[in-house]
This record gives sequence, structure tokens and C-alpha cells, in this order.
Amino acid sequence: MKPLLLATLFLLSSLLASSANADDGSEFELKASEPVHVDHVYTYGAPSVVTGTPISHPNNECIPGIRVYNEDVDVVECSWYEKLWCTPGKQVTNVDFASQINLKNGYLHPKMATLVVRLVDGSNVEYTYQPCHSYTSSVEEYQLWPDANLPSNMFNNNHGIAEFYITRLAQVTDSVKGLSLQYASVSVCVQKSSFDEVKYCIENFEEETAVGNEGVAHAGWEPFAYMKSETEGMLSDSDTVIVLKKDNTSTNYRSCIIGFQGSDSLLDFSNFVSSNNEETSYCGRYGVHTGTANELWHLTHDSQYASEIVPALESCHEVTCVGHSLGGALCSLFTMCANRGLEYLQNNNDSDLMFEEDANHWDDYNSLIWTKKSYVTDESSW
Ligand SMILES: *[C@@H]1O[C@H](CO)[C@@H](O)[C@H](O)[C@H]1NC(C)=O
Ligand SMILES: *[C@@H]1O[C@H](CO)[C@@H](O)[C@H](O)[C@H]1NC(C)=O
Repeated sequence: MKPLLLATLFLLSSLLASSANADDGSEFELKASEPVHVDHVYTYGAPSVVTGTPISHPNNECIPGIRVYNEDVDVVECSWYEKLWCTPGKQVTNVDFASQINLKNGYLHPKMATLVVRLVDGSNVEYTYQPCHSYTSSVEEYQLWPDANLPSNMFNNNHGIAEFYITRLAQVTDSVKGLSLQYASVSVCVQKSSFDEVKYCIENFEEETAVGNEGVAHAGWEPFAYMKSETEGMLSDSDTVIVLKKDNTSTNYRSCIIGFQGSDSLLDFSNFVSSNNEETSYCGRYGVHTGTANELWHLTHDSQYASEIVPALESCHEVTCVGHSLGGALCSLFTMCANRGLEYLQNNNDSDLMFEEDANHWDDYNSLIWTKKSYVTDESSW
């Protein structure tokens, strides 16, 4: 068949399917039987946002993707007269404060592979890649990294996405960093103040960083949807969300990236985290960082989310969430709600965990979720 005809058939059958019974076992299935709406997550210097059961894919599986954070390390040499108190070797002198900030309050990082990128003695990049293991029941050690006792300096920090993450990731082996360097460009460009500027940034990404590396446009991604929400409370700045797409025309398969903006100012960010530190409940579960939950609630209740972001996501066969700093925290919570919210909500209906404000929890979920397009490339069925 000709590609155009295929595409038309595809469009037609997806229209038909969305009005048909969701459980008819045809090529298309709707969201209820398909809990995973966010397929991959990439975060950079993201604070942890839930206590208790960590964020994971359903059935305690790992979330595909990588959480990256930075550390600075000095190699300590001791003189003979210092031996009593000096420990020679590599010592962490500064960790990204944002990746550490919530850990002391019991918030855990999601269940996903973790990449620690170290700048040793101010010049060499070294790293530790910690893979994630599905089906382990307890919290794994790396979900508590960086240790809350390690030094972290807010004013002399290594938190910036372009200055510190991209420059360091550029020196990490491809097989380890995977797509994390390329996707970091999304977190830089989502900070721009209009859709035109976002597009320019994505398409000319080499201009954005000192190392001049290539962004997602080189791999065929293009900006697709945009919203900018002027949130009233939480942060003084505005919040941007973007969606990018990459179409495979021979298989009719669309991959998407949703990117959440971090915060413009570090001071805003730390005020935000520390003054919204208590736990709340969101999208069917307890133990969620209040500031992040409120921020995500505001975004998904902005009319632009329903009019711009949801229709874009509905056209995607798979979705990757990308975020730096608060944007990473938003990604974690977004993924929790999109992938497990329904599960939590349904369980809570059946138990004495029933929420007082149950309707609000369903509203958290319903405002955020979209109908996932699930497409089986079985041409014989046509
Ligand atoms: C499209 O998908 C097919 C099958 O997975 C793959 O072989 C091909 O390389 C993809 N094309 C592009 C442009 O990514
Ligand atoms: C759970 O309760 C809410 C609110 O009463 C209701 O809207 C929803 O349909 C229920 N869900 C299930 C799976 O029973």
C-alpha cells in the first residue's frame, strides 16, 4: 500500500476504535487497560517528591530512563603531620543541592537507573551508573542518593542544566549516558519565553552551550505543542510545558517528549521546596511533596493543558518525560499519576483508605490523563 493510503486507513481506524468498545481486543486499546502512559523518564538534578512507596512503573517495575545528578570530588592527599585527621582519597566536596534537598525529609527518588556524574579535581569527568532492578520489594540504596550528609552548596552550586549537566554529560561514554545528553536540550529550551524561541532553541541547539553539542533536532525531533501558565501562587515565574514529536513514516509510529520547565531562579527554587515541604495527597496516594503537587495541579488545570497538551499527547504512541530541577520533580509526579494513578484510585475505592476528598483525587487524574494511542503494526489485519 502507498504510505498516504496507509496513513488514511490508520487515521480512520483510530477514529473508529476510539468510539468502539475499549475491550474488544482489536488493534486499538484505550487507556483503562493500558496503565503505562509515560514510557521513559529523564531527569537532571531533580528533587525527590514522595515518601512511602517510591514512584515506579506498575508492579514495582523500574521506570525506563535515567535520573542524573552532579557531584564535585577532590582528591585528598595528606601530609605526614595530618595523618590523624585526614583521610586520603577521593572525597565529595559538593553535590547538586536540588537532588539532595528533600531526602532528609524522607522523600525518595523514583525507581529508575541513576547516573552520578563527578567532576574530579575540577577537570576530569568520572561517573557511576547504577542500574535499576525490577521486582525488588524494598527501597534500593540509590533512591536515597546523594546521601543527605554530603556537602552541598547552594551558592557555589553545580545545578545548572547547560553549564553543569550538558558539559559533563558530553564527556560520559555513549553506552552509559544513552539519550540523556540529547534530551537535556529539551530542558534548556523549555526555559525560553515563547513558542518561537523554544523552536529556535531546539533547531539551533549548538548555539546554546559552551560545548556546542547537538540537541534533539539532530535526531529528528520537532517542537509540536506548547503552553505557558502564569501560576498564581507557588513560584514567581511562569511555567512552560512543551511536547516534541518524532514520526516514523514507514511504521506510522509517533514518539513524543513532554518537557516541564524548572524554575528560573535558584532562590525561588529553594524557597519553593523548603516552604512547601509538608506531605499532601495527590492522584490517589499519600506522601506527596505539597509544592510539586500544587504546581502540577495548576498546570493540568490550566485551560491550555486541555486545549494544547492533551491533544498532542493523544497522537503519540509513546511518551518520554524530560525535566531539570523542579521540571524533573514534575516529571516524576506526572509519571506517577499517568501510570499508577488509576491503580491507586481503584484500590482506594475498595478499601478503608478511602479518601475524604475522593472526588478531588479523581479530578487530579482525569485532568492530567489522555487517551493513549496503542498501535499494533500488524498489516495482515488490514
Ligand atoms: C522506523 O521503524 C522501523 C521499524 O522499527 C525502523 O527499522 C526504521 O529505522 C525506523 N525509521 C526511522 C526513520 O526511525
Ligand atoms: C471510585 O469512586 C469515584 C468517586 O465516587 C468514582 O467516580 C469512580 O468511578 C470510582 N471508581 C471505581 C473504579 O469504582
